[in-house]
Amino acid sequence: MLRTIQATRYVVPLREGGSLPAIVEGDDLGLYVVKFRGAGQGILALIAELIAGEIGRALGLRVPEIVLAEIHPALGRNEPDAEIRHLLKASAGLNLALDYLPGSVMFDPAARDAAPSQEASMLVWFDAFTQNVDRTPRNANLLVWHKKLYPIDHGAALFFHHDWATMAAKSASPFKQIEQHVLLPWAADIAEAGAAAREKLSEERFERILNAVPDAWLEAVPGELSATERRAGYADFFRRRLEAAHSFEQEATDARARLI
Ligand SMILES: Nc1ncnc2c1ncn2[C@@H]1O[C@H](COP(=O)(O)OP(=O)(O)O)[C@@H](O)[C@H]1O
Ligand SMILES: [Mg+2]
Repeated sequence: MLRTIQATRYVVPLREGGSLPAIVEGDDLGLYVVKFRGAGQGILALIAELIAGEIGRALGLRVPEIVLAEIHPALGRNEPDAEIRHLLKASAGLNLALDYLPGSVMFDPAARDAAPSQEASMLVWFDAFTQNVDRTPRNANLLVWHKKLYPIDHGAALFFHHDWATMAAKSASPFKQIEQHVLLPWAADIAEAGAAAREKLSEERFERILNAVPDAWLEAVPGELSATERRAGYADFFRRRLEAAHSFEQEATDARARLI
């Protein structure tokens, strides 16, 4: 389901990102933004980025194409910057990469950016479903490119996976943090978006997405669980989360009512 590219050249770091992402060239001559498995955030951030990103795409949101990027241990050998050299060395193997959108800018309500209601509602629903706290006015993680919206940076979503003992409780959470969502003012049809989302999501869809996560990533997570057990755990979370949809839709709708 995902393409795999070979990283052939480290082009330039994206200094604004906390996880040291960089623009990298692939063997298909495309440019990608790579999120490195050797970065401080750890492997769970890449797993969340892939799973949540693909759910976003399933919902019809314009998440830039996600590919797996193979980094050869020798790629960073001649990098003059020691930090970059170490990062590349620690990231040998499969990493996550997004199609690079040249000339895109961050969505900014203070600059009078606005969003279509249907799309804003779906993005709010998606972030409540995946429990993504990284879509605030300060840190929108929402690119505007050719006047259209492109959600990025889903590494903080699915935060229950840092502590699986909390999964059942978190899956039922109304997700109060939605009140901080950058697109809430435009999200006029959250319940409607939820109905459309439920049409698009199915157990088979989740299974296909979870199967796209490399075993090597799931096995690199500290703990006892096997890759198969972890995939089953995520599937269980999504099943429960869909059952809780009315509760988080109501929470988001109420938060918006307080706002406008
Ligand atoms: N696909 C992309 N195309 C263009 N720029 C991007 C893309 N992905 C990320 N960026 C830029 O890189 C920055 C950091 O990426 P992000 O995924 O948000 O990483 P972090 O987890 O470090 O915040 C973004 O704020 C954005 O400016
Ligand atoms: Mg970010």
